[in-house]
Amino acid sequence: MKYTLSIIKADVGGFVGHSDVHPALREECEECLAKAKKDGLIIDCCRGEVGDDIAMIMTHDKGLESEEIHKFAWDTFTKMTEAAKKYGQYGAGQDLLVDAFSGNLKGMGPGFAEMTFEERPSEPIIVYLADKTEPGAWNMPLYKIFADPFNTIGLVIDPNMHEGFRFEVDDLIDERKIVFSLPEEMYDMLALIGSPSRYVIKQIFRKDSDEPVAATSTQRLFLMAGRYVGKDDPVMAVRCQSGLPAVGEALEPFSFPHVVAGWMRGSHHGPLMPVGFKDDTPTRFDGPPRVVAMGFQLKDGMLVGPRDMFADISYDNARRLALDAADFLRRHGPFEPHRLPQEEMEYTTMPSIMKKLKDRFESA
Ligand code: 13P
Ligand code: 13P
Ligand code: MG
Ligand code: MG
Repeated sequence: MKYTLSIIKADVGGFVGHSDVHPALREECEECLAKAKKDGLIIDCCRGEVGDDIAMIMTHDKGLESEEIHKFAWDTFTKMTEAAKKYGQYGAGQDLLVDAFSGNLKGMGPGFAEMTFEERPSEPIIVYLADKTEPGAWNMPLYKIFADPFNTIGLVIDPNMHEGFRFEVDDLIDERKIVFSLPEEMYDMLALIGSPSRYVIKQIFRKDSDEPVAATSTQRLFLMAGRYVGKDDPVMAVRCQSGLPAVGEALEPFSFPHVVAGWMRGSHHGPLMPVGFKDDTPTRFDGPPRVVAMGFQLKDGMLVGPRDMFADISYDNARRLALDAADFLRRHGPFEPHRLPQEEMEYTTMPSIMKKLKDRFESA
């Protein structure tokens, strides 16, 4: 049987500031999900959370970019926004960029990652949620999971993985996409995805079929809104085992807290720290950026889980390294490379400062 997995997320208000979500928003979300399940709109669901972002993880038979599913998510976020306003939550309705829903969530603010696939006899799936970063934050881990034999030994020793995978990379500035076949085109793809603010891995497919094995959310709020409204805080799903990366291979890249964009006011680089659910609240300088991993076994479309995958003590060194890197970067204060480069600051105060100073520049 084919199922669609939809992970739809938004920040509709932070408690306190941008660090967590108020229990009233959680309750509203769970009530809506329970009703959608009872009404038969979705097969199963689970609420996920990281920092001030809430994700609805849903299984259903309505396919990709379904109007019904996306409208349900939009309506749920709208109701959660009401709860956020009632309790004076910070940035209530932050990610809802338009007044009314039409068609699907593309360009409207909430992020979504979706895959439709035939459920295998055992279907382990990891759902990753990140706060204080942008969609390109998944580029390095996805590359390692599906293309780097130093991370994923399955690429070498599992005959079903040995041929490699196909990667869809989206250009978020010019709104176009390209599909690479790896390992043959590894260097071409790296040339692009090494610029994660523009080029983002959107989906990964098996080589012998069109079946998706990984998907990410790629919305960039500042490109849609034309101004800074908060960071995108992306989600991703990776299917594992039996000809795909093992669960441990899908988690291994996060043992290195690579530097990503999005800390404090969306304008700073910081390490992406893997954390258990109880530590998903970015507080120091509104960060550092962090990621949680929710493990599920899918069975007849039901989400058996979640398991808190990064709660494991084997991620303690990654956390320690992340905190050291956070100290190191913080010492740069308002200087690059802690602060994002000037081109990336275009949607903050930079244009107004340049306008103010315009007449004071002289030829040198
Ligand atoms: P099992 O043989 O226990 O299924 O484990 C295989 C595997 O992928 C471990 O990384
Ligand atoms: P969020 O994108 O998580 O809302 O954070 C915004 C921010 O400005 C944090 O400093
Ligand atoms: Mg926020
Ligand atoms: Mg957030």
